[in-house]
Amino acid sequence: MIGFADSSYILSGIRKQELIDFLHDCNNQKRNIFVLCDTNTIEYCLPLFQTLFPQTKSASVYCIQSGEAYKTIETATAFWKFLLQQQADKHTVIVNLGGGVITDLGGFAASLFKRGVDFIHVPTTLLAMVDAAIGGKNGVNIDGFKNQSGSIVIPRYVYIDTEFLKSLPHVEKVNGYAEMIKHALVADKLFYKSLSEQRNFEALQIIEKAIAIKQSIVASDPYEINERKLLNFGHTIAHALESMYHLQRQNISHGKAVAVGIIVESYLSCKMGFISEAALNEITGFVQSLFKFDDKDFNVEKLLPFMMADKKNKQGQLRFTLLESIGKGVVDIPVPIAMIEDAFHWFSKQNPGYGI
Ligand SMILES: NC(=O)c1ccc[n+]([C@@H]2O[C@H](COP(=O)([O-])OP(=O)(O)OC[C@H]3O[C@@H](n4cnc5c(N)ncnc54)[C@H](O)[C@@H]3O)[C@@H](O)[C@H]2O)c1
Ligand SMILES: [Zn+2]
Repeated sequence: MIGFADSSYILSGIRKQELIDFLHDCNNQKRNIFVLCDTNTIEYCLPLFQTLFPQTKSASVYCIQSGEAYKTIETATAFWKFLLQQQADKHTVIVNLGGGVITDLGGFAASLFKRGVDFIHVPTTLLAMVDAAIGGKNGVNIDGFKNQSGSIVIPRYVYIDTEFLKSLPHVEKVNGYAEMIKHALVADKLFYKSLSEQRNFEALQIIEKAIAIKQSIVASDPYEINERKLLNFGHTIAHALESMYHLQRQNISHGKAVAVGIIVESYLSCKMGFISEAALNEITGFVQSLFKFDDKDFNVEKLLPFMMADKKNKQGQLRFTLLESIGKGVVDIPVPIAMIEDAFHWFSKQNPGYGI
């Protein structure tokens, strides 16, 4: 297994040959390669992937429905059954070709199949390139509750190629930007500044920087004892929203949920006395210029039970990762429920479509 400090990710061009050699060796050693896709990536990304890596042309392909609703233990079980039918063994290699749903689910399935087989992430959304495919967290949702079962096992390789972004709808690029903004807010003020000024969704340089921030946080705390919790900024709210939408049989993208989370949790950071009102306005203005929050309504009473399922809580007390300043996060801050209610009222006033 590769250690967390090792750089296992490959940006297109750089070290690509290493992955080609690995796949070539797999073929020579008759190791089975399986490619996991969803209904979009099989169409938009598999042909490019097979052109980049012809060694995978005879690999078996398993395709799942696209969407968060399929990031479940049931989908993983169906995939495991398929692998068994295909006589997959301990030496099997799984390539996860897709967005964060595919990398989370495929990593989860691979990390448990036969007690763990090699897997390679090929992220095809911006969000997966800068976040989901980096750092070794794999998982599935249970009854709509986010990431309730999972593992922390890092892939053998992560191959990042911005060519895949060419077919990605703009709205998905903006979703990825939300996670980059989160990385910047908790760790790097200058990066935040360049994200807010440049608004370039697919520059390799920016992607590289975002990955480097995540890699460095993960390397210092792979099992999320402390510092890795920084990356949860915006996510207590985001995960609760996603679960609630799921229960109502509605959809919200992870990136958009994170955007709401960034705004609401920045408000909490301000009310808890950490960031200034000017910083709150700056963050809110920037995020609201990227996302339009006008679709569904939510309310605190509905959201609170979902927040209670958050893994960061201790003894029923809601704990958040907040901002001490732009570029510096702070973890494990207990926040009173009344303040969370206040935050939602404030958010609704700013975004009338979200009324409560
Ligand atoms: N493990 C982690 O550390 C981590 C971090 C952040 C997010 N996540 C998880 O990632 C998931 C969200 O990831 P996502 O936003 O990538 O969602 P996703 O995988 O659902 O992809 C978004 C949409 O884009 C489509 N798509 C993917 N690549 C495409 C391409 N190149 N061209 C055209 N369409 C394409 C997909 O089929 C899907 O419809 C959530 O489940 C979230 O919890 C995990
Ligand atoms: Zn996220």
